[in-house]
Amino acid sequence: MDINLIGVPLKYGCDRDGAQLGPATLRENGIIDIIKKNGHDVHDMGDIYIPYVVSEDKYKDHPKMKYLNTVAEVNSNLANNVYCSLKGQSFPFIIGGDHALGAGSIAGASKFFKNMAVIWIDAHGDINTYETSPSGNIHGMPLAASMNVGHPALTNIYYDGIKVIPQNVYILGGRDIDSGEFALADELNLNMYTMDIVRERGLDNVLEEIVEKIKASNVDGVHISFDIDVLDSSLVPGTGTPVAGGFSIEEGKEIFTTLLGEKFITSMDFVELNPKIDNEDKRTTKNCIEMLEHIFSTMHN
Ligand code: ARG
Ligand code: MN
Ligand code: MN
Ligand code: MN
Repeated sequence: MDINLIGVPLKYGCDRDGAQLGPATLRENGIIDIIKKNGHDVHDMGDIYIPYVVSEDKYKDHPKMKYLNTVAEVNSNLANNVYCSLKGQSFPFIIGGDHALGAGSIAGASKFFKNMAVIWIDAHGDINTYETSPSGNIHGMPLAASMNVGHPALTNIYYDGIKVIPQNVYILGGRDIDSGEFALADELNLNMYTMDIVRERGLDNVLEEIVEKIKASNVDGVHISFDIDVLDSSLVPGTGTPVAGGFSIEEGKEIFTTLLGEKFITSMDFVELNPKIDNEDKRTTKNCIEMLEHIFSTMHN
């Protein structure tokens, strides 16, 4: 595969210092070599520029969304990089940074594809709006924005309006979902596979169903947005919003073996590593690297 690596050292979407260090930490720990040694051709596009904003100004643009204009602007630049990568027949692999960047990745990919699907692998739904968000953190809103739900500053990133239709959205591993998010998921009839459902039906069965549904839909692109907090909190202490009851490393690998094995994935995010709050033993970074080794060894050439 021809891979364009795009770093997004964003922390304003989670409002937690350290999330901006994700891309540098993954590069220092060999992500480029991992991609290369698995037979891929990699182009490091560097990092998207993140303007500096003082924390006193976080509510300057909107009383219920922190750093709104900065997050929207960064996402618009990311979207154009993703779009250009796809135009150039490369696979955009986006490393965060917080999950607010998902809005930009999806905006860029959706401009390139006619009809795309999104697989959102996360302990959270990230389908809040400023009206339902308990935190005001935009990293809890990108998937809603991509479905044209929420504030225009977010739903109109890169181009106006809907980026992915709800029928093409799959949420996997959710176990900390806010009441407003459940209401929206219900209203839009999203394909929601919470951790409860996964435990009840079995991960392999759920993955198989997602694959079958995607194959039966006429999508021409599939974006994976992987939030590392979908892994169990004991495995990822270095993430801003860890949640117990998550996937093991083996299960995380199974997800990619199945999804990447289908060869329909066309872009991907890898987000929410916060090296600053990681354990002494750098457990989170190590587990991220182990997941990345698996991802790039599973991805076809
Ligand atoms: N649901 C919570 C919120 O909206 C947490 C979101 C966590 N999102 C994430 N990408 N880690 O504030
Ligand atoms: Mn090349
Ligand atoms: Mn997330
Ligand atoms: Mn999450």
